[in-house]
Amino acid sequence: MSRLSFAQRIVNWQRLHGRHHLPWQNTRDAYRIWLSEIMLQQTQVETVINYYQRFLRSFPNIRTLAKAPLSRVLEHWSGLGYYRRAHHLHAAAREVMNRYGGKFPETQEMLMALPGIGRSTAAAIAVFAFDQRAAILDGNVKRVLARHRAIEGNPSLSAIEKTMWAVAETLLPKRNLSEYTQGLMDLGASICTRRQPDCAHCPLRRDCVARLEQRTHLLPTPKTAQPLVELRFHILILKRKQRILLEERVTQKIWTGLWSFPECALTDDVAQVVKRRYGLTAAAIETFPVMTHRLTHRRLIMTPVEVDVRGRLRTTASCRFLSREEVLRDAIPTPVRSIILARI
Ligand code: ADE
Repeated sequence: MSRLSFAQRIVNWQRLHGRHHLPWQNTRDAYRIWLSEIMLQQTQVETVINYYQRFLRSFPNIRTLAKAPLSRVLEHWSGLGYYRRAHHLHAAAREVMNRYGGKFPETQEMLMALPGIGRSTAAAIAVFAFDQRAAILDGNVKRVLARHRAIEGNPSLSAIEKTMWAVAETLLPKRNLSEYTQGLMDLGASICTRRQPDCAHCPLRRDCVARLEQRTHLLPTPKTAQPLVELRFHILILKRKQRILLEERVTQKIWTGLWSFPECALTDDVAQVVKRRYGLTAAAIETFPVMTHRLTHRRLIMTPVEVDVRGRLRTTASCRFLSREEVLRDAIPTPVRSIILARI
């Protein structure tokens, strides 16, 4: 019986069963690879593909991205979530232009010094763009390693993560880094899935401790549930002559830089808020059913209130009346898009 190494089995599996035609594969363009890795940090491949292609049509290289205003970058990120990624992406593009004349640095260490690029993302870029030898450790890879080695404890705990980095480094092959890296990602995404992994087709099955002990469903050890903070508030859909008021989120922690409906407390008197903040008169007020939106650590429980308003806009806030079409083209968070599509 052959005893191929862990890495050799991953590479062989990748050649036969892995993905070879994703839009960010078959290129050595660090800009494209970097962009894909940032989008893929918290978003599934199927969702990323469209965003990725549209983004590249508008910003085909690092120069165009660095020159663009942040607001345009956020428009292209609208709906993808985790908007901090877009802020960092833009900052990193400017830094690569200013510090490196538009050429990405080629080592994992230097890549990690750029905004938004952690150790694993830096490794992926270094491998795919520059053929360097570096280990990745994203959520999928953590799952594969936790099962193969039966590593107990939640992988986001620093002690566990440290162990996993050490394991990931020792498993690295000498050659075929890019097939190996892609193979690990693909195996985690398609075979070693969180629920019901397809162990029968896994190249690691003969020495996967979790499978041998029938513990795949127990590994990786889940996080102890964090309490989800519930936030309840009104969102104000202020309508004037078929146009809707959107406000730029300047100081808020969530969705900074995006455009959203004004908000107020459930205890506030809506007509008074509209008058006080915007100098507008509420002519008719209608309350819609509650909508919820889940963020990583929060649940937003929003009651939309549609207000027909009159008068001239007088406010210190950064806000505009926009048509439905303009709103949908803007940098807006997903719940705003849903409300516009459903109600306006
Ligand atoms: N997830 C993170 N990086 C990826 C890549 N290059 N291909 C597929 N899935 C990924």
